[in-house]
Amino acid sequence: MAGPVHGSARALLAALLAPALVALVALLVAPARGRGGRDHGDWDTAGLLPPLPPREDAARVARFVTHVCDWGALATISTQEAVRGWAFADVLSLSDGPPGAGSGVPYFYLSPMQQLVGNLQENPSATLTMSLAQTNFCRKHGFDPQSPLCAHIILSGTVTKVNETEVDVAKQSLFIRHPEMKDWPSSHSWFFAKLNITNIWLLDYFGGPKIVTPEEYYNATFQ
Ligand SMILES: *[C@@H]1O[C@H](CO)[C@@H](O)[C@H](O)[C@H]1NC(C)=O
Ligand SMILES: *[C@@H]1O[C@H](CO)[C@@H](O)[C@H](O)[C@H]1NC(C)=O
Ligand SMILES: *[C@@H]1O[C@H](CO)[C@@H](O)[C@H](O)[C@H]1NC(C)=O
Repeated sequence: MAGPVHGSARALLAALLAPALVALVALLVAPARGRGGRDHGDWDTAGLLPPLPPREDAARVARFVTHVCDWGALATISTQEAVRGWAFADVLSLSDGPPGAGSGVPYFYLSPMQQLVGNLQENPSATLTMSLAQTNFCRKHGFDPQSPLCAHIILSGTVTKVNETEVDVAKQSLFIRHPEMKDWPSSHSWFFAKLNITNIWLLDYFGGPKIVTPEEYYNATFQ
């Protein structure tokens, strides 16, 4: 992990490895208790999922996928002894902004207790995958998640802690779409982070992935 969490958080991680497993289980169970109105769910049930931008406009489609997704799988390089150096993916809740106002930046709320944060402290390079399979778009059209028609994106970059200036944006983006986050135990030392995107692949049609540059991606609007 780039930034001030490096080092001290690693020591913390080592000391807290066993409780971390318990914490992870608690996290998995928690949403069942305190479920708020999650946005893509609301979009789905209310039939309000915005229409997919034209597939020939790859940057807009990529921004659309990022914006409507509430979670993704983040792959890091493992530091666990049994699988050291192997790719290791875990599910992460994320948000690029309030509904209808996405910035394109995937923000995360992370704890040093998470295995993937330990991995990131050793190597901040990571790859995030998000798919419209988590919305009703693919089910409605009968697209299998592996079909490129079920649009999905692969974003590589480095995970960095957000600075003081950006914390408010990250917090607002995440808490409005993941209301239970504000009740996550403060003892877990949660902090805001983001993916600094360097490479983008979009799969939204046959013929192989489309490359979108970060410049094109941030310049586009998903509407
Ligand atoms: C904080 O991060 C933002 C976004 O990366 C950047 O524009 C800004 O200059 C940074 N502020 C400081 C004080 O480093
Ligand atoms: C984001 O990545 C770019 C390209 O690797 C790099 O130049 C920039 O310093 C990074 N920004 C942060 C906040 O890490
Ligand atoms: C940025 O967006 C504008 C308006 O959609 C477009 O005309 C322009 O080509 C885009 N530039 C880049 C670098 O993608």
